Amino acid sequence: MSALAETLREKLKSRRARTGVVGLGYVGLPLAVELAKAGFHATGIDLDGRKVQAVNEGRSYIPDVATKDVESLSRAGKLDASTDFAVVRDLDTINICVPTPLRKTKDPDMSYIVSAVEGIAKYLHPGMLIVLESTTYPGTTDEVVQPMLEATGLKAGVDFFLAFSPERVDPGNPTFQTHNVPKVVGGFTPTCSALAKELYGSAIETIVPVSSTRVAEMVKLLENTFRAVNIGLVNELALMCDRMNIDVWEVVDAAKTKPFGFMAFYPGPGLGGHCIPIDPFYLSWKAKQTGFDPRFIELAGHINAGMPHYVVDKVGEALNTRRKAINGSSILILGVAYKRDIDDMRESPALDIMGLLLARGANIAYADPFVPEVHAREWSGGYDIKAVDDAKRGAIGKYDCVVIITDHKSFDYETIVAEADLVVDTRNAVKQPRPNVFKLGAPRAEESEKALA
Ligand SMILES: NC(=O)c1ccc[n+]([C@@H]2O[C@H](COP(=O)([O-])OP(=O)(O)OC[C@H]3O[C@@H](n4cnc5c(N)ncnc54)[C@H](O)[C@@H]3O)[C@@H](O)[C@H]2O)c1
Repeated sequence: MSALAETLREKLKSRRARTGVVGLGYVGLPLAVELAKAGFHATGIDLDGRKVQAVNEGRSYIPDVATKDVESLSRAGKLDASTDFAVVRDLDTINICVPTPLRKTKDPDMSYIVSAVEGIAKYLHPGMLIVLESTTYPGTTDEVVQPMLEATGLKAGVDFFLAFSPERVDPGNPTFQTHNVPKVVGGFTPTCSALAKELYGSAIETIVPVSSTRVAEMVKLLENTFRAVNIGLVNELALMCDRMNIDVWEVVDAAKTKPFGFMAFYPGPGLGGHCIPIDPFYLSWKAKQTGFDPRFIELAGHINAGMPHYVVDKVGEALNTRRKAINGSSILILGVAYKRDIDDMRESPALDIMGLLLARGANIAYADPFVPEVHAREWSGGYDIKAVDDAKRGAIGKYDCVVIITDHKSFDYETIVAEADLVVDTRNAVKQPRPNVFKLGAPRAEESEKALA
């Protein structure tokens, strides 16, 4: 190891290293807090002045991070934040945790990574360790980040150290959080790996070194493509079960009793979140550049992207039994966050479902204790809507149809089913078949009775 690397290693071991995190969102804030808890001084950099102010005032705005942690660390002088990249001058390490969305055309939008690296490059100095954490296509670290940083005249692996380490945070998961999810680390050189391992090893229980940045980038894409493809498979099975009058939920629950060789995935109204609907397309975009046609990803994408349309068809089917049309009906959407008990709306299928219902002339309202208002982008219908407090006794009956998109625990499903005229349940929130419940991928109570007769 060079003297520069030895110095950084010693600073990491003794916790004298000053750590930095660029992008203080769902990934970055928990990481900054873990680094500060591990004994480092951690500085967050974010363009959003409200987040920076919150950290400096000792407040958390991420549900998985306790305000008392941010408060005590900021009061102890261990955690602070800035909108100004000039703080990089004083930092020894930086983890980049900025967004990696898709453009409308499903091409990677690298603008956040590029702008973060530009900010860092201005103040890059010898002996620094830079780790990219944003989920991205294989090759980003050495094709995009490395040349931008080397344009300063410093060389990766010699003057500064470079690695990729995918983030695996699962927002809302009470068991697995930043500190106890194993961390895959791939360095540009073995020394880069060793230093990144040293940094993460101080705050995270298990480190999994791999041989290169590209392997580490691909690991994350395998994990998320695995989920997208399996969800696509079970969504297709749900569409099949619907035609065949079989309850897909019962099928999956029975199949998962197999103690080996099966892993349960559940159907739903469509993919949501910042990862599963997006990351596989980073991989397919890159694979296509090598002339490879990644068919599983595209097929799963087609099936999963079609689910909101299927939900809207179900709503039409339900209303039809009352001789009503979607056009002019009043419809209450229950839950709009992309999954249960969180406030994250990114890529939520509820956005498309509400947009499709509006386009068909429905009067829609939604209730979600985690999401006070929704602003849909142009391609989801371009509408703005505020939550109503109607998921309660006495309010549900005024709607022609209630559609369960997100099965938040706080909803009282008994009351909903008892008071609603029609319920479309996309999450198996209502366990027992009921005549007024139309479940995604399952026969209606009347149909199952006919099948039994
Ligand atoms: N949220 C998850 O569950 C999750 C899980 C695993 C991986 N990831 C990946 O981690 C990355 C970050 O995701 P997230 O959910 O934390 O995003 P986020 O939107 O919650 O946070 C990103 C933050 O980066 C800031 N930012 C944007 N551009 C910046 C710049 N140039 N300089 C400084 N700050 C900038 C934004 O203001 C925002 O606060 C993405 O690549 C995502 O795919 C997310």
